[in-house]
Amino acid sequence: MPSAIDVTVPSSARMYDYALGGKDHYAIDRETADRIFAAFPALRELVAANRGFLQRAVRFLAEQGVRQFVDLGAGIPTSPNVHEIAREVHPDARVVYVDHDPIVAAHSRALRADGKAVTVIEADIRQPDLVLAALEDKDVIDFDEPVGILFIDVLHFVTDDEDPAGIVARFRDRFAPGSHLVLSIACRDGVDPESADKVTAAYQNATTPLIPRTREQIEPLFDGFELVPPGLVNMACWRADGPEIPGGLAGVARTPTE
Ligand SMILES: C[S@@+](CC[C@H](N)C(=O)[O-])C[C@H]1O[C@@H](n2cnc3c(N)ncnc32)[C@H](O)[C@@H]1O
Repeated sequence: MPSAIDVTVPSSARMYDYALGGKDHYAIDRETADRIFAAFPALRELVAANRGFLQRAVRFLAEQGVRQFVDLGAGIPTSPNVHEIAREVHPDARVVYVDHDPIVAAHSRALRADGKAVTVIEADIRQPDLVLAALEDKDVIDFDEPVGILFIDVLHFVTDDEDPAGIVARFRDRFAPGSHLVLSIACRDGVDPESADKVTAAYQNATTPLIPRTREQIEPLFDGFELVPPGLVNMACWRADGPEIPGGLAGVARTPTE
């Protein structure tokens, strides 16, 4: 886990903030992100499509009655944040933001701290047991009620050796039946292989590597969940009209209640 803000190493959180037009990034982040945009210009649209997916999916969950959310790899606060969207439906919605980048924790505490119902945990999702222990400690999540488990634009930063499907399963098994997985992720299908390799190379010296996967490699992340319509689709097309932007898939799924 990056333990302090390092301005010499590109950070996935800060590069994403730059891509979204935010203010929390350094020269190294901008240089690396600009290289990535040059290799894969559609990324700007993809990042915006990802935020659109997040908003639609969180609202959908809230309308299904989900009142508590754990946002894993939450990113630097970007409006509207998960708690703002959820609270349009349930004013008492509870949200825990989890991220391993210290810049996220610093900004989140200032912007998202809202009494006990909105909480920030600085932790690494590759250590799900530590995250779950911290959640129990904070006492914000009711483990007997369904949870919105958000892995939005983050699992491509977890290598195969670190077992992304096992990490998702750990949260699935701990939370109550009827919990929902909200997942978006980089997908290399339909992307020019040379561009994909350049993007991956640009991440080599960043705080995290980037592992764009195929649909076939992504599907097992939903094991033990039932996908809700329209299933695992292009990020820009989940309950929206697109047009499709190659490079990212998204889906929402639910654990069975019996
Ligand atoms: C591309 S941003 C996505 C932010 C937000 N989920 C969204 O979709 O708007 C990815 C975030 O995941 C965080 N992240 C990457 N690897 C992580 C890990 N192993 N544990 C916790 N957070 C991680 C990064 O710090 C960054 O803030």
